[in-house]
Amino acid sequence: MSQTAAALSQDAQTEICTALNQCVAETVVTTMLAQNFHWNVTGMAFGPLHELFQQVYEDHFVAQDDLAERIKALGGHANGKLADMVAASKVPEHDGHADDKTMIAALADAQRTVAGTLAGAADIAEKHGDMLTQDLCIERGRTHEKFAWLISAHLR
Ligand SMILES: [Fe+2]
Repeated sequence: MSQTAAALSQDAQTEICTALNQCVAETVVTTMLAQNFHWNVTGMAFGPLHELFQQVYEDHFVAQDDLAERIKALGGHANGKLADMVAASKVPEHDGHADDKTMIAALADAQRTVAGTLAGAADIAEKHGDMLTQDLCIERGRTHEKFAWLISAHLR
């Protein structure tokens, strides 16, 4: 049965917010990854890759806020500490020293990783009947899978 934020048990709220904080952490790390590559990409495809990487980080910057504010709507704590996010994220940081193909592969991998984390968070929300969080996670997961395609298509 579907539940709204106010009807969730404390245990359910804690589990959902933990999953959402993981989504925020990976979205933040991937935002910085895309902006780092936007700055440092080189090669004959500089123009379109510079633009595409900007499109990615601008999307992710808005998504960080949507996910974190869903945590607040559920009554949880949104952990905005960068060191914690980097430590928790399954998407690794990158120093930006790489050729264009390496950047494309790393950013496509990051998109697939975040999509998987969001799908897992959607499952947790569904288990507790929190359809509104589930919907947000599904929408974000779908966006990351679209970016995975847009980015990785350069390598085929
Ligand atoms: Fe820029």
